[in-house]
Amino acid sequence: MDYLAYFHFLGSMPDTQVLRTGLSAQLLEQKKHTIATIGLMGSGKTSHGKLLAQKIGYDFKDTDDEIVAKEQRSISDIFAQDGEAHFRELERNELASGFNSLNPTLLSCGGGIVTHEENRKVLNDNSLVVWLFATPQAIIARTNIQKRPLLQVANPEQKLAEIYEERKGMYAETADIVFSTEKKMKEKNTDFIIQELKHIGLCKQ
Ligand code: S3P
Repeated sequence: MDYLAYFHFLGSMPDTQVLRTGLSAQLLEQKKHTIATIGLMGSGKTSHGKLLAQKIGYDFKDTDDEIVAKEQRSISDIFAQDGEAHFRELERNELASGFNSLNPTLLSCGGGIVTHEENRKVLNDNSLVVWLFATPQAIIARTNIQKRPLLQVANPEQKLAEIYEERKGMYAETADIVFSTEKKMKEKNTDFIIQELKHIGLCKQ
């Protein structure tokens, strides 16, 4: 097994026992009804998530879209009118109700969902968590930052780099698998993800 990526992201070597037992058959059975995509805003959670869901026959759900539909206002308006803490509360409630679908579902999660400890546990217990990783530089170059309330600052790239530093351990702690979306080639990337899902017995086609 190659632990270099783990070391690169987290600066220490993993507990190999935990990794080996991490996806036992029983746990996989429990998790495979929902695949959740996590990662920084702009890492491709929605675009890759939608295509992946379509390719493997899962329903698609996005926590931000669900919140917007229920609140009848945009994420930017929620942040501006009621502040981030209120948005996090809505996000926590949304996630808590996110696993009751009868159909297998791909759940695309807002980038900050992992900042709440309870959310990390809920995701980890109930879904196969796929971390989509891209560097802040790549993301800033390709993202419409107007729609991201947290990036309305003088230096959005620096802000995103700070957010990444704060969250990388949380993404790693929550994720079962990590994929690079640094090159935004969603056809190729999703095929690669499917290959891995087949490898761990989650996906048949
Ligand atoms: C946020 C990411 C956004 C959205 C909100 C906060 C974050 O979702 O939930 O603007 O804290 O990273 P996306 O990651 O889908 O853009």
